[in-house]
Amino acid sequence: MGVKKLKQNLKAKLELEGHTFDLPLIVGTEGEKAIDISKLRSETGYVTLDPAFVNTASCDSKITYLDGENGILRYRGYPIQELAEKASFTEVAFLLIHGELPSKKELDQFNSKIAKYSEQTATVKNMLPAFPKDSHPMGVLSALMVSLSAEYPKFLAQDLSPKQREEAIIRVLAQIKNLTALTYRVINGLEPVESDPKLNYIQDFYNMMYEGTDYETLEPEVEEALNILLILHADHEQNCSTSTVRLVGSSKANPFATIASGINGLWGPLHGGANQAVIEMLEEIQSKGGDYKEFLSKAKDKKDPFKLMGFGHRVYKNFDPRAQIIKKVCDSVLDKLGIEDPLLDIAKGLESEALKDQYFVDRKLYPNVDFYSGIIYKALKIPTNMFTAMFALGRTPGWIGQWKELIESPTMKIGRPRQVYMGENERKYSKKSGK
Ligand code: SDX
Repeated sequence: MGVKKLKQNLKAKLELEGHTFDLPLIVGTEGEKAIDISKLRSETGYVTLDPAFVNTASCDSKITYLDGENGILRYRGYPIQELAEKASFTEVAFLLIHGELPSKKELDQFNSKIAKYSEQTATVKNMLPAFPKDSHPMGVLSALMVSLSAEYPKFLAQDLSPKQREEAIIRVLAQIKNLTALTYRVINGLEPVESDPKLNYIQDFYNMMYEGTDYETLEPEVEEALNILLILHADHEQNCSTSTVRLVGSSKANPFATIASGINGLWGPLHGGANQAVIEMLEEIQSKGGDYKEFLSKAKDKKDPFKLMGFGHRVYKNFDPRAQIIKKVCDSVLDKLGIEDPLLDIAKGLESEALKDQYFVDRKLYPNVDFYSGIIYKALKIPTNMFTAMFALGRTPGWIGQWKELIESPTMKIGRPRQVYMGENERKYSKKSGK
């Protein structure tokens, strides 16, 4: 994959121990600039140190573009606002994975292949009774996803053919839908529901989750809201879980193990687990009479580990465009379903207070994708502990698209960061004296 070089072939000059080294500069198609340090150690003996990779690009990619300063998010060049409004989730999945929007024929074929590979597998069925009812859904989902490597051993080959890769991608997209719904069934002691090929992706997911329950009827506005939510979560360039997918995928681990690693990376409350933590935070504020000012001061208190969940972002130093769309969908879904949720009012109050507070203004902390999403999931009767699993369902096309881009790159190497050792120097072994 060609990374554009600066026209003037500009270089950065590095003065080190009396020597001058030229480091190539590169520029991306949206003007992002980078210093290419891929030869730094071999030429200078130095490595760079960048904890949490705040300043480090791990790859070049053509999939998603984020502009954190201006709150821009595009999948393959298409603004997220347009895709959320006009596209279907599997159409966006096709776009992320293959680089172009599908024709009607391509989309129909894509959808029918997903339906074809949506069988419930024997391995998964045999695993279900093993999970305690109070299992966290993310643990169940991750275990079920990696179990597919036992069900489909042909995808364990280290070099899949393009045809095998395409089939693996379709199976992952089909199965993440099944397994997310199954996870809900398991933790609620309900029998599994088979996939129905007559239904579209979201209808099939919803039916496998809710058939036989009080919520089995899928209202059109709920289907539309789910479609938008899954599209908004579909990819986000090199976030924690996607970087995990790329690192695991770079060892040529099979696609199911690779996606399961993404599910595990997403689970943490600083990442995808934040949507569950936001609702728990709002419910705690509600239980204390709705006074969010106490929580704002806790969030600002350096001695208090509490963070305002759903606020802040490594890249966005402006509004997260997804949060803006989700906030609007919140209002319309609750209105159409005739739901009055006091948590929405608390969230809006908290947001307006924080956006006026110097601590948040100085640090450019805005609501992120997780701040309002849980309120919609709650209105759709999705239990709080399932919110991060919903995030994983949405993010899977992005993970699998990034995995495909990595695996198909002619320059792909196994990811293996360096370190700076700060431990003991060499010392002789001797038995510890005393007791
Ligand atoms: C997602 O990367 C992605 O793209 C992720 C994601 C995706 O789609 O994949 O967008 C999804 O994970 C969204 C983020 C969900 N997480 C949360 O909502 C948890 C709460 N947010 C924070 O933990 C935090 O904002 C992070 C983890 C999201 C980002 O942390 P950074 O980039 O490491 O920022 P930082 O900790 O260096 O913060 C800078 C300052 C610090 O204060 P100072 O030391 O400068 O005084 O801002 C403060 C932080 O303490 N700060 C917060 C805060 N977030 C940052 N203070 C209070 N509440 C917060 N939420």
